[in-house]
Amino acid sequence: INNKRDRQIQLHRDAAIFYYRTLLKNDHAKEYLQMRSIEKSTIKKFGIGYAPNSGKSLLNYLLQKKYSVSEILDSGLVLRNKNNSQNDMYDRFRDRIMFPIQTITDKVIAFGGRVLENSKSPKYLNSPETSIYSKGKHLYGLNYAKKEIENDQIIVVEGYMDVIGLYEKGIRNVVASLGTAFTLDQGNLLKRYTKEAVVIYDGDQAGQEAASKAVEILEKCEVNAKVTILPEELDPDEYINKYGKQAFFDRKVESLAVIEYKITRLKQKYNTNSIDGRINFAKDMAMYLSELNSSIEVEAYLNKISMDIGISKESIIQEIKKNKLKEH
Ligand code: UTP
Ligand code: MN
Ligand code: MN
Ligand code: MN
Ligand code: MN
Repeated sequence: INNKRDRQIQLHRDAAIFYYRTLLKNDHAKEYLQMRSIEKSTIKKFGIGYAPNSGKSLLNYLLQKKYSVSEILDSGLVLRNKNNSQNDMYDRFRDRIMFPIQTITDKVIAFGGRVLENSKSPKYLNSPETSIYSKGKHLYGLNYAKKEIENDQIIVVEGYMDVIGLYEKGIRNVVASLGTAFTLDQGNLLKRYTKEAVVIYDGDQAGQEAASKAVEILEKCEVNAKVTILPEELDPDEYINKYGKQAFFDRKVESLAVIEYKITRLKQKYNTNSIDGRINFAKDMAMYLSELNSSIEVEAYLNKISMDIGISKESIIQEIKKNKLKEH
């Protein structure tokens, strides 16, 4: 009766319970989460756990639960060295805070594990691709967020701790793409639950680069996308802990439509105080506008851009026409 998939899901559930119980017994791990302002109820809600430092605790737990060696290895939670003996198997995750990754129906299918000391790397270790987990096909937190959608809007953040940190402060319509590249699969998944996505990635360069790409994908998936840029290179978790919930909402209200975001980013790229900068900005912007299909949109942005940089609409239109000719 138990097919392979059900067994893997059962195994992951058992692993999550093991990590959760281990956390409750480990002061070091509990103190870490306290330091990150995560309350006990939130730990329970997200099933946050701790993988102990000893190399075989999970392995032994799963063997005792009567999982076969091949099932255990297939889970990716335990690794084996070359010479294939059971003595040579060890837990993938050691001395890490564990975040279960769940499906929209609350099934644990993978884990992410964070070091407790920032000096260690990699900071996060994730489950590998397995028979039940493909990277880029899931959104962390969607199983919770889908019940909390506000104004037909979901907030998309980068990391586990952003989802959890915002949840802790009462903002619960949040999912994480995990890592930087938002995928088409994730866009299509999101579209099943919401009309609009507000992308709030880390305020650093890498985060903003990734946000640009994410909104392009969201638009392809016909999800209405907006972007909120956080100051001081903060990420959503840091921002809300520093400035509070109201400030976070105020920022979100001022989120930018995709094209406004592009303009903002291009302005940062070129120094629009110099003539050269303005020329290059206008050329780049013309390139972007020539890809738009709606002439209403083009007109609206032309007005704004030409006002901003003091280059006439007509010149920018000429440039757009040149680009369109090149395309054909
Ligand atoms: P960040 O480096 O921004 O981490 O990576 P974070 O989410 O703010 O984590 P904290 O606050 O320091 O705990 C964003 C996301 O990218 C993935 C993780 O999913 C992480 O949440 N990531 C990051 C990895 O998979 N591996 C890494 O080494 C780093
Ligand atoms: Mn430690
Ligand atoms: Mn980052
Ligand atoms: Mn963070
Ligand atoms: Mn971050």
